[in-house]
Amino acid sequence: MAYNEKVIDHYENPRNVGSFDKDEKGVGTGVVGAPACGDVMKLQIKVNDQGVIEDAKFKTYGCGSAIASSSLVTEWVKGKTVEEALAIKNTEIAEALALPPVKIHCSVLAEDAIKAAVNDYRAKSRTAEAGYDVCK
Ligand code: FES
Ligand code: FES
Repeated sequence: MAYNEKVIDHYENPRNVGSFDKDEKGVGTGVVGAPACGDVMKLQIKVNDQGVIEDAKFKTYGCGSAIASSSLVTEWVKGKTVEEALAIKNTEIAEALALPPVKIHCSVLAEDAIKAAVNDYRAKSRTAEAGYDVCK
């Protein structure tokens, strides 16, 4: 299958690969898997006190489209509020990368990973406010 140029660029030069300490203040971690192919994506956001995502990192064990999707969304979420990040749709990712139909689920993985990271961030901030620690 021929990959589009933007996919190849994000695949060959992925942005924001790496990870944060998941226990660090403001960090939200999302790990999602695609049952169809077994690919796994970990996406992390670092949120400041104003609720703005200052930084994002990812590690993806998966296909080129999944790597490109996660690389792209880590760029997109930077500077956005968590609410704005939640509004990112896999269809926008798929369109930006011109993913073919069989690769749409790779972009779904990226949307799900952001949502999971925001949920984790919110759950962590709630427990921090309440004054008890997150259950391990
Ligand atoms: Fe399954 Fe891309 S994430 S083939
Ligand atoms: Fe969660 Fe005790 S409250 S383990």
